[in-house]
Amino acid sequence: MLASLHRPTLGERLKAGTATAHHRLEAGMDIDAMAADMPRLRGLLERFHGIHAVLEPLFALRLPEGLMAGRGRLGALRADLVALGHDGASLDALPRADAAAAIADTAPGALGACYVLEGSTLGGRVIGRALARSGDPRLARIAYFDPYGAHAGSMWNAFRRDLEAGADPETDEEVIHAANETFTLLQSWLAPALAPLPDPHP
Ligand code: HEM
Repeated sequence: MLASLHRPTLGERLKAGTATAHHRLEAGMDIDAMAADMPRLRGLLERFHGIHAVLEPLFALRLPEGLMAGRGRLGALRADLVALGHDGASLDALPRADAAAAIADTAPGALGACYVLEGSTLGGRVIGRALARSGDPRLARIAYFDPYGAHAGSMWNAFRRDLEAGADPETDEEVIHAANETFTLLQSWLAPALAPLPDPHP
């Protein structure tokens, strides 16, 4: 039987192995509510900053140079936050998700964490469109969620090719484990920004 001969690729295993975690995170993001609530959206971007500020320097250290070419989002994220009122000093004072460092401390760990952040650009397109629809130009200009625009598909395909090039039966489990750990960390790290704000008029 042909079907039983197909050995799933690392990308397929990552997608299947993190589907539950992805669904849980996605379900907790009320995009329309966020698009209507600037302080909350700014709070969410501040939390993403805490993740990228820890992970991106590790990606640069642990992943092949070509893999990260044109991919870092920290610069755009910081520019978004400056447009929303931050300055260099207040950005540097934002809390960092230091626990992310342990996940990306090895090359397979960094690859798993990078898979999660790169994959988030796919759902980010949906978020980017919701922000554009909001009618608020400050929201429409936020670059973080949809960094590649019309190139999102080709950037993802290129990442998937690099992912398969880095696949290794010795370390694939570690990559998948790191991706799940990254989802779990995001779930708790983003929670303060995702929780509904208390009703000011109960
Ligand atoms: C921090 C939040 C999120 C993270 C880390 C994340 C992560 C990911 C990852 C890793 C993938 C790649 C799956 C694959 O291997 O093909 C993906 C795909 C996708 N995500 Fe998300 N995601 C997030 C939020 C969202 C949200 C809020 C939505 C919905 C609006 C969403 C919708 C999608 C869609 C439509 C795809 C592509 C379709 C598919 O192949 O399943 N994601 N995301």
